[in-house]
Parts: sequence; C-alpha cells; structure tokens
Amino acid sequence: MSQEFNFYPPSVDDGWAVSQLISACPPLDTNSAYCNLLQCHHFASTSVAVRRQDELVGFISAYRVPDKPETLFIWQVAVAESARGQGLASKMIEQILQREACESIRFIETTITQANEASWALFGRIARRYGAPLASDDLFTKEKHFSGQHDTELLVTIGPLERSADTTSEDAPVSAVTPQRKEARA
Ligand SMILES: CC(C)(COP(=O)(O)OP(=O)(O)OC[C@H]1O[C@@H](n2cnc3c(N)ncnc32)[C@H](O)[C@@H]1OP(=O)(O)O)[C@@H](O)C(=O)NCCC(=O)NCCS
Repeated sequence: MSQEFNFYPPSVDDGWAVSQLISACPPLDTNSAYCNLLQCHHFASTSVAVRRQDELVGFISAYRVPDKPETLFIWQVAVAESARGQGLASKMIEQILQREACESIRFIETTITQANEASWALFGRIARRYGAPLASDDLFTKEKHFSGQHDTELLVTIGPLERSADTTSEDAPVSAVTPQRKEARA
C-alpha cells in the first residue's frame, strides 16, 4: 500500500466529508450528516478514515455489537472511485483490527445484498486473510423488513479470526467468493 494514504480513526471533523463520500459511492445507502457525525464521534476507535493529501478517499464505519464484545460489525465500506483497485478497502479493515482497542475481536459481521459482487469479493478476501470461515443467512428481508423497497440484506459472519495473521502485512492471495447460504465458504 502506497505511503500516500494516511489511515486514522475518524473525528467529527471528518463527518461532513464522510457524508459526501458515501453519497458518491452507490449502492451504499446514504444517511443523514448527523448520523455520519455520530459514527465519527462514538465509533471512532472501531472505524477508519483514509486521506490522500487533503481528500477523504476511504471510510469504514464499524462498531462492537453491544451484546457480543468479540464481534466487530462493519456497517459501511466506501472507497472513492479514484482510489479503488489498490487493496484500500481490505487494508482499512486490517488497520482497524490491528488497533489495541480491537485486539479481542474474533468475529466480523456485516450485511450484504446478493447482488453486491464487490462486497462479496472484499469479505471473501478478508475471510481468507484471517483463515476464517464465512457464513451467510438472510437478516433483513425485502418483503418483511423493507416493504419491498430494498433488496434483502444477508448477515455475513466471518470467524473465528486467526489473529496471528495481523502480523503478516502482505495480503494472502484469495479467490473469488460467491454468495451461498448457511455454509462455510472460506
Ligand atoms: C467495494 C469497494 C469498497 C472496494 O474498494 P477497493 O479498495 O477497490 O477494494 P480492494 O482493492 O480492497 O478489493 C477487495 C476485493 O474486492 C474485489 N473487488 C473490488 N471491487 C470490485 C467490484 N466492483 N466487483 C467485483 N470485485 C471487486 C477486488 O478484486 C478484491 O478481491 P480479490 O482480492 O479477490 O481480487 C469500493 O468499490 C466501493 O466503495 N464501492 C461502492 C460502495 C460499496 O459497494 N461498498 C460496499 C463494499 S463492502
């Protein structure tokens, strides 16, 4: 990863730029600027911002699941178009996990729609990187929870993570992972 990228826990001063970045990253759902400010404020230790010079080019909002302190829930991953294809999204997740505040994390959860190939590829790569199985199942369904207005979001669980992988900085080669339910896939 090039030295030009600066990774750091976000602060409220990043909130507005985060809002703009998310808006420029379909198919991500936009949230209010207030929500993005709260993410940068309350979830800073488990989230990451990346700047190239002054421009915010990457952001992940994530938090510990309240009743599962060993589980990091990754809410949104956004990389500006100009910074894609260089492993930045993967590196952002690794950066969060390498923090002292996250050393007890053993599982990652996220939700992905069936059609979001980039997300499946990204989290498949993370599962391989940490030598962990990946399983998925419906969580928020189109008809029952979104009144037909949003595709079903599948809950993806990766873990237990091999945390010794934190110390090896090079990305392990991985092959594509395609959606498949209730099965270990990594
Ligand atoms: C998805 C996104 C975060 C990827 O960022 P990135 O920095 O380019 O991702 P990486 O370079 O770390 O790539 C991670 C893996 O995803 C794959 N990938 C990235 N973009 C992809 C795409 N559009 N389609 C299919 N696979 C994709 C990469 O090939 C890589 O897999 P590999 O190691 O098997 O080759 C970025 O494209 C984005 O912000 N998209 C819009 C928002 C979005 O969909 N966010 C949800 C993602 S969780």
